[in-house]
Amino acid sequence: MARRRQIYEGKAKILYEGPEPGTLIQYFKDDATAFNAQKKGTISGKGVLNNRISEHIFTLLGGIGIPTHFLRRLNMREQLIRQVEIVPIEVVVRNVVAGSLSKRIGVEEGQQLPRTIIEYYYKDDALGDPMVSDEHILCFGWASQEELHDMADMAIRVNDYLSGLFAGIGIRLVDFKLEFGRIWENEFSRVILADEISPDGCRLWDMASGEKLDKDRFRRDLGGEVEAYQEVARRLGLLPEDGDTPVLDLDSHRKLRGK
Ligand SMILES: Nc1ncnc2c1ncn2[C@@H]1O[C@H](COP(=O)(O)OP(=O)(O)OP(=O)(O)O)[C@@H](O)[C@H]1O
Ligand SMILES: [Mg+2]
Repeated sequence: MARRRQIYEGKAKILYEGPEPGTLIQYFKDDATAFNAQKKGTISGKGVLNNRISEHIFTLLGGIGIPTHFLRRLNMREQLIRQVEIVPIEVVVRNVVAGSLSKRIGVEEGQQLPRTIIEYYYKDDALGDPMVSDEHILCFGWASQEELHDMADMAIRVNDYLSGLFAGIGIRLVDFKLEFGRIWENEFSRVILADEISPDGCRLWDMASGEKLDKDRFRRDLGGEVEAYQEVARRLGLLPEDGDTPVLDLDSHRKLRGK
């Protein structure tokens, strides 16, 4: 078989040319990075879980009318997606104070926000993805006024839907990151949801215990990363229910590993 052409290798995924024009194959790696790639590691099995979790969430979002790049899952680590021109902005939605917001404003993690906050970060690794405002986005032409409006509108709808989805399975959706891209139809373009939605780009806290079920386990050397991602997948109904499987239980796992 002819080797597929690789379009891009990122920190967590590889993009290959797809079978038809305008499509790509998104391959999910086990590689994990944090703090602008200063910390690197692998989480064995993460790619398989993120592929499945992101497929599930994008399919549900498609079902409520959010346009996404997702076409179909191809295998354990790959999905077929529509090729987009990525808008160089990370859209972060926050419901609870955590992470960089906690540091920036000196408020302890865990405080519920009285209203949802949307933040924008300029996607530039060399600059460390600096936070920018809508003024910067418009001034430097990274997105148009209409695109910015559509992205913010979709981000709020995604937040409302996912907050409820996760609350239903005992998980608090603290914050998450979205990426959008342009697709062209004749001379017109519109923005659709792209990239992935997985525990790599969300903060997910167990409602009962406060346990972190996301990439903060890696960032903060808490261990049990893959078990946390599995727990999210299990609660979403994506893994077989098996009360006897110790790796699905963070507490027994920690005891097993002596942590
Ligand atoms: N549908 C799509 N079409 C084109 N590019 C996409 C699409 N969905 C996601 N991407 C881009 O593919 C890459 C996915 O790889 P990965 O998440 O590993 O990148 P990354 O290391 O986070 O790098 P970056 O800083 O570019 O986001 C990202 O650059 C993302 O913006
Ligand atoms: Mg990425």
